[in-house]
Amino acid sequence: MKPILVAVGLSALFATSTLSADRLTVDPARAEAAIKAAFRAAPPDWQSRLIPDDTLSECSGTDNSPSAAQFEAIRKREAAKVAYPDDGKLLGDWKKGERLAQSGYGMRFTDYPPRNPNGGNCYACHQLTRHEVSYGTIGPSLLGYGKARGTTPEAVKEVYEKIYNPHATFACSLMPRFGTNKVLTVEQTKDLVALLMDPASPVNE
Ligand code: HEC
Repeated sequence: MKPILVAVGLSALFATSTLSADRLTVDPARAEAAIKAAFRAAPPDWQSRLIPDDTLSECSGTDNSPSAAQFEAIRKREAAKVAYPDDGKLLGDWKKGERLAQSGYGMRFTDYPPRNPNGGNCYACHQLTRHEVSYGTIGPSLLGYGKARGTTPEAVKEVYEKIYNPHATFACSLMPRFGTNKVLTVEQTKDLVALLMDPASPVNE
């Protein structure tokens, strides 16, 4: 429930922040202090996640609107953080992918120490199949994704990279860096690629 905890911390800040013109401004130092305070109980190996890395700092510092040069620099830096399977096969099992897309398990205080593999929580932001009635709309609908793009090796690689590290293509994406941040493994990423690309997957019905 990390996002909710952060939201609670930040809403207290918004209440005391200043409204300049039509834009709400928050002192970044206060925001970071509030996040740290909210995650006081976080295990030691999570502490580094509370400090924004270069990419997050640059995206936040420009309100997610980096200059063209910054965009390219971020994109390149993040592309270098994509790891690929040794055998070069990027398509896994869409059935496992669908279970991962449904699962929001992982990275919450109640999930520590981990008892299950992390999920991808893709439905929190995306529509993926016609069968699921409850999904978020922060990200675009991915219904018919493979059908629309075809399953050429280039298209498959693009999806793999998108899931592993969305900042490698879209510098200030709001989508988490699942592979780079070790939320999902290479195998899990392959299963999600299959969910989006496999013609037999409910995404492409
Ligand atoms: C917190 C919200 C969020 C979550 C969770 C999320 N995404 Fe995304 N996703 C986005 C946003 C926002 C975009 C559009 C910006 C971009 O392309 O980076 C996007 C874009 C994408 C795209 C590219 C869409 C296109 O038009 O080419 C793919 C593919 C994708 N997501 C797959 C996934 C998968 C698979 C998961 C689960 C592992 C997932 N997303 C989880 C927010 C999210």
